[in-house]
Amino acid sequence: MKKLKINLKHKSYEIFYKKNLLHDFFIIDFCQKLANNFVIITHKSIKNIYAKPLFENFLKKNVKVKLLSFEDGEENKTIETKTYLEEQMLKDNFTKDSLIIAIGGGIVSDISGFIAATYMRGISYVIIPTTLLAMVDASIGGKTAVNTKYGKNLIGAIYHPKAVFIDFEVLKTLSNDEMKNGLVEMLKHALIMKAFFFYDLLKSKKITQNLIIDSLKIKKQVIEKDENEKSIRKKLNFGHSISHAIEASLNYKMVHGKALAWGILIESYLSYKMNFLSYKNFEKIYNFLKQKQLLVNHGKFSKDLIIDFLKRDKKNIFGKNRFTLLKNIGKSIINVEIIENHIVNSLALCLEVKHVSSNYYRS
Ligand code: GLY
Repeated sequence: MKKLKINLKHKSYEIFYKKNLLHDFFIIDFCQKLANNFVIITHKSIKNIYAKPLFENFLKKNVKVKLLSFEDGEENKTIETKTYLEEQMLKDNFTKDSLIIAIGGGIVSDISGFIAATYMRGISYVIIPTTLLAMVDASIGGKTAVNTKYGKNLIGAIYHPKAVFIDFEVLKTLSNDEMKNGLVEMLKHALIMKAFFFYDLLKSKKITQNLIIDSLKIKKQVIEKDENEKSIRKKLNFGHSISHAIEASLNYKMVHGKALAWGILIESYLSYKMNFLSYKNFEKIYNFLKQKQLLVNHGKFSKDLIIDFLKRDKKNIFGKNRFTLLKNIGKSIINVEIIENHIVNSLALCLEVKHVSSNYYRS
């Protein structure tokens, strides 16, 4: 079994990865060492393909196990869904010796991890990511949260899983769109930390296991240095100030990867406008997003709403917007204070990208 360790002293855990891991009793044996009772949490759309076979394997072990699911979509990552799931667990007398197994994308692991953080003041959980985005980002680092009408992920906790199990076979079932959502987070990892990874991603025709592991290693390196986002972990927020505001402004109807592609474009442009990033490098990023077809037509972004949501961004200090920006491809800078005018102008220019040539950005 291949593994990658996330070193966080007593909170350390392993990411286990291999093909067909999902059908291996390794996961169940591992879970049985952690608890006596098991709650599997998943999305309704993947319940039958991924969660049910796992549930049935647990049943074969004669243990107490429950399978819970909720509707797909970021708009369902709410405190109401969390309460619903918790009440199902309480009703069936799941106590502290229970383990949550989150199987799904980032929405499932975010909400399951938050339940684990607060259920009876904290129980263990493990994650089986079934999307590329969850593999390379959401499943490691312990960020858990729910969304509110005031903004994305504003209520949550940093609470680490006991293990992550990656089965590369699930990638075969993902749509092209889903793969692109994950690629955007991989691009972010390249932009903030590793220039050569940017060029690897640019020239590769498909997302290989090696690229996934390289991306994971970048995130591993960051969170091991700054688990609680006091410093370097803020680099992982590149593109996210804008993307979270976009998602909230659209009532969470746009998936994270798509909003993040716009967030990366706009925050790269801001980096250029603030004289951190050269125009040439901005253009390389724009061309990457174009070449990989990551900028989807958004139709109806509202600049005013986006600005409004930015005012509640978690990273703001004394009411001022603080961004992570790029100094170069592979090099980022945190805590940059940006005045609202710059943000408004960058939004205005970038959101019209579908109508313009790249020359438009030179203004
Ligand atoms: N997704 C950003 C982080 O884990 O810090």
